[in-house]
Amino acid sequence: MQTESLGERTLTFFPQFLATLRERVAPDATVAVIGASDGKFVLPLAAAGYHVVAIERDAVALHGADIRLPGDSQAHALGLIDRLKLEELHSRVEVVEDDFLDGAPLGLQCEAVWTSCSWHYSANHHRPLAEFVDRMQRLVRPGGVFGAEFMMPVERRHHMIEHYTSPERLRHHFLGDWDVLLTLRTSEFTERPHVGQPRDHTHRMGLLMAARTSTLTNHL
Ligand SMILES: C[S@@+](CC[C@H](N)C(=O)[O-])C[C@H]1O[C@@H](n2cnc3c(N)ncnc32)[C@H](O)[C@@H]1O
Repeated sequence: MQTESLGERTLTFFPQFLATLRERVAPDATVAVIGASDGKFVLPLAAAGYHVVAIERDAVALHGADIRLPGDSQAHALGLIDRLKLEELHSRVEVVEDDFLDGAPLGLQCEAVWTSCSWHYSANHHRPLAEFVDRMQRLVRPGGVFGAEFMMPVERRHHMIEHYTSPERLRHHFLGDWDVLLTLRTSEFTERPHVGQPRDHTHRMGLLMAARTSTLTNHL
């Protein structure tokens, strides 16, 4: 790629998700990315041949802006839309500029859905985590794949917010028509400063991947 996401170097379980897609869905399947940001996952998915629906609420992530880098220098950050054009991948990606929790659930069916560290954002705390998960599940066709990596609690305040969750707690949302394929977790680890986090900081991350076995009975 000629361009780089601002989050390019942060830890991710995305390679496990991509490997699962290769095993389970068609090479030209549609994958929805919730919280697409500036395209860290959207661009590799499109480059791999998938059609992507990229849902993002943040205008800066989509359209770019002048930003302050760690160390206090300024830079112009490209947004998702310009990155897609520069990498000539825009024809494979539909960008939806919206809050995933606003309005009725998207009437869209995909072969897979992915999110990375999005639901713990404070903008989502006014709604139960179950709603975020349910809206993601509704996007997945029978036989399709659900993948989410997420922040686990580290600080005391995180333990009061259900959106900082764990693979064990998340599993309860995957009874019935879902097979949990893989759960993973990290220990606490230190991440170097990046945009939005000017100092070294500590994270703990989890992953849950599941396959939908049949049509949900209470669907839509
Ligand atoms: C931390 S970023 C994920 C990027 C990736 N982990 C990385 O390292 O680049 C999460 C993104 O989810 C988006 N997001 C969170 N809640 C959302 C919602 N309800 N609707 C749409 N986008 C959302 C945020 O705006 C943010 O761009």
